[in-house]
Amino acid sequence: MGSHRFSLLASFLLLSLATTAFSSTLSPYYYHKICPQALSTIKRVVEDAVRQEHRMGASLLRLHFHDCFVQGCDASILLDTIDSEKTAGPNNNSIRGFEIIDRIKSEVDKACGRPVVSCADILAIAARDSVVALGGPTWNVQLGRRDSTTTSKTKAEKDLPTPFMDLPALIENFKNKGLDAKDLVALSGGHSIGFAQCFTFRKHIYEESNINPTFARDRQSRCPKNDGNSNLAPLDPTAAIFDTKYFSNLVKKKGLLHSDQELYNGGETDQLVKSYSTDVWSFWNDFAKSMIKMGNIKPLTGKKGQIRSNCRRVNQCF
Ligand code: HEM
Ligand SMILES: *[C@@H]1O[C@H](CO)[C@@H](O)[C@H](O)[C@H]1NC(C)=O
Repeated sequence: MGSHRFSLLASFLLLSLATTAFSSTLSPYYYHKICPQALSTIKRVVEDAVRQEHRMGASLLRLHFHDCFVQGCDASILLDTIDSEKTAGPNNNSIRGFEIIDRIKSEVDKACGRPVVSCADILAIAARDSVVALGGPTWNVQLGRRDSTTTSKTKAEKDLPTPFMDLPALIENFKNKGLDAKDLVALSGGHSIGFAQCFTFRKHIYEESNINPTFARDRQSRCPKNDGNSNLAPLDPTAAIFDTKYFSNLVKKKGLLHSDQELYNGGETDQLVKSYSTDVWSFWNDFAKSMIKMGNIKPLTGKKGQIRSNCRRVNQCF
């Protein structure tokens, strides 16, 4: 009787331990049993989208970053509400890729037969698949995030970094999310792909001195002083290839954003920028590690949140 009670207690303890571990930790195998087709379905839609428009790969990578930095990686960025994160300064008329996420969600739900893959996990997988589609590194995406029931424009305004920040402010911004200066430099390598609008770098190309003059003039030709706010320029010379040109350009003082050039401007991150500029393997390796770390920011697991059936809306019934 005593030993029976003991083993009952022991198995209860073991069970609750296992449950806690299961519900609070992400795992790359999360969908292996629930929906074995999930990852290949997402990959196919991302590859299609990137084939149609290379920039979409960049936009999907940025979407995951902007999701994770605002109340954690919980797909809060996807919700369409009055006070949506989409309308916050750093996102308004800038963040894109929502239609592709909708397409992925509908395809993956069809493949799985029911809505079991969270929008937050779709963002994390689409970011990885985008990087791979543009010639970058791969990694095992941790999975099992659930979706938020809230979104916050105010938090987005407060927590997303801006291109006007200096190095200490960027380091502080990342530190607030549990990321260090090395993560900052590695993840900024995301700017190896994609584009920026004139208003985000105008001040840097007209008023700052830590910039190559020929490069500045070249960028000024398509970003007038008083016009063309939304004109695009590539963030590095190979905007559709996930390479080290972003870093080698910083070393040449050809960073596009003020915040980019801050990473190589006589400060503590110079050495790392320099080493990434000539060592694609260490950049890729550190980028992958930091992406996993970023993907772990405050995920909703267990009974928290929900699996949305439409990424733009909170489920009405549970
Ligand atoms: C370190 C602080 C960062 C700042 C201040 C910053 C700022 C910006 C700005 C201003 C743009 C241009 C947006 C526009 O003109 O509409 C941009 C684009 C982009 N950012 Fe960042 N970013 C940062 C970090 C990151 C990180 C960590 C990633 C991903 C790991 C990332 C990925 C991208 C990508 C891929 C684009 C191009 C998007 C497209 O073409 O649609 N950025 N970023
Ligand atoms: C976002 O952009 C739209 C369209 O340009 C503009 O009308 C609106 O005022 C902006 N919203 C916010 C909250 O800044």
